[in-house]
Amino acid sequence: MFDRSIKIAPSILSADFANFGQEIQAIEAQGADWVHIDVMDGHFVPNLTFGPMAVKAFRPHVKTVMDVHLMISPVDQYIDAYADAGADVLTAHIEAGPHIHRTLQAIKGAGMKAGVALNPGTPAEAVAHLLDLTDLICVMTVNPGFGGQKYIDMTDKVRALRAMIGDRDIHIEIDGGMDANTAPLMAEAGADVLVAGSAVFRGGSVQKPEVYGENIRAIRAAAEGAL
Ligand code: DX5
Ligand code: ZN
Repeated sequence: MFDRSIKIAPSILSADFANFGQEIQAIEAQGADWVHIDVMDGHFVPNLTFGPMAVKAFRPHVKTVMDVHLMISPVDQYIDAYADAGADVLTAHIEAGPHIHRTLQAIKGAGMKAGVALNPGTPAEAVAHLLDLTDLICVMTVNPGFGGQKYIDMTDKVRALRAMIGDRDIHIEIDGGMDANTAPLMAEAGADVLVAGSAVFRGGSVQKPEVYGENIRAIRAAAEGAL
């Protein structure tokens, strides 16, 4: 069953990079709905994180949904590696190459849910001819590459996407600068998956996981309060 309720997806970009397994277990125990994994290549974005071997090592720790956000170019040659790594959702940027339609077909063909991400400068209309191939549209509310950046308002874009999607089973995910102040704006506009890195991990640790829980509940309560 398609679930349009609010889902909080902590980004492990803000976790302890020496301790991903325990960090993933901690955020799930504290109420995370999905786990968001930011893959960066130092080319499409000016930062580097990890690749398919690391993502495969995360897999046994993820009991919810492993949501892999590729900030890489090109994409297509790595799709099978992320399928093998166990990604549930694989999201590629529309700006990452000339053939996003083919990329989404290949992601679905490899047995994953297909996501398409839009940088702040890319209009909603860019996905108009992709809806039948798309399970998730990720609206970036920062320029991708780093955690902890200032939220860029994309309320109009989210509203336009919500109208365009109609009754199709497509998630709208928001990525960047989500906290208890910004999440309600996006929930009200029609988003259902809220990625949050710094606002979830701030103040907590695997020794103090209850802070992750407080942070997740604060974002969720604010978002649900806007509906
Ligand atoms: C940005 C990443 C985000 C990032 C969000 O390039 O795609 O997922 O981790 O971090 P915050 O929530 O700190 O803006
Ligand atoms: Zn992301």
